Amino acid sequence: MTALTRANVRHIGALLRQGRNPAATVYDSIGSNFFLEPAPGWLNLGLWEGPGDTSEAPHAVRRLVETLARELPHGGAVLDVGNGLGAQDLVIAEVVRPQNLVALNITESQLRAGRARLEAAGAHAVLGDAVRIPVQGASVDGVISIEAAFHFPSRARFFSETLRVLRPGGVLAFSDVASERIVPRTPGELMAGLSNLRIWGMGRDHLATSAQIRDAMVVAGFTDVGVQKVGARVFPPAIRLFRKQLETRGGEQPILYRLAARLLLRQWDLLYRRGMMEYLLVRGRRPASLT
Ligand SMILES: C[S@@+](CC[C@H](N)C(=O)[O-])C[C@H]1O[C@@H](n2cnc3c(N)ncnc32)[C@H](O)[C@@H]1O
Repeated sequence: MTALTRANVRHIGALLRQGRNPAATVYDSIGSNFFLEPAPGWLNLGLWEGPGDTSEAPHAVRRLVETLARELPHGGAVLDVGNGLGAQDLVIAEVVRPQNLVALNITESQLRAGRARLEAAGAHAVLGDAVRIPVQGASVDGVISIEAAFHFPSRARFFSETLRVLRPGGVLAFSDVASERIVPRTPGELMAGLSNLRIWGMGRDHLATSAQIRDAMVVAGFTDVGVQKVGARVFPPAIRLFRKQLETRGGEQPILYRLAARLLLRQWDLLYRRGMMEYLLVRGRRPASLT
């Protein structure tokens, strides 16, 4: 298929309008068979050891989840915020062996598409927002969130909500994309920044440096806060992989989609090389007693 279908046009229209729930609009539009997905059912960028070979992709996406899941207490209640298509919940279940696993997502179509994976993981699907978590206070031992926090309407509210739902001593582990330099220096940087905000349904308020993310966690009341910058193991290999996927699978997509994907990858490359965008692995603990 190389011409735009009616569904394609509807998707483009929805992306341009975005409406009241921009993140859900974006992921409804991406759907459950995204042509650039790194591995079936996976949407994260991966934590890579090599340069971005196709054969490493299924391991890289798992490794990212395993790395964060290992931070969580074993065997307790776990909340996964922004769980995508559910592939990560099987990995969380394997690593943490939770007594109870809840997958919270604002995109209903993803929860539906991931139903079989959630069932296999023994996870309970909940439709809801990371900044108004529909879970009782002090009821979970670990909160995990993979590559979703940059979408949340407010990281500060996500941190205070997470702190509320965690039991004393409970752990939050998440990955995030930080904007280390927000002010662009060239028209290319400005264009890359603005178009990425638009495509991902984000506004200026979603941008935060790694230091601001760390400080917001401390202000919320987390202790043992650790922030690790791993952009070199994420962006260059993921961009290389996506470029290859575009060559091998892109032919079935409308030309407009292919051009947009090519441009987006060039912009990611620019934002990363110029030190504007960084990938973070973050952890923090709810103190035994809140003062
Ligand atoms: C980049 S995707 C990552 C998906 C998945 N964690 C993965 O890595 O494959 C972002 C996810 O966050 C979810 N999301 C975005 N905003 C959210 C919010 N405010 N509350 C809950 N989930 C949200 C999206 O629906 C999507 O599933």
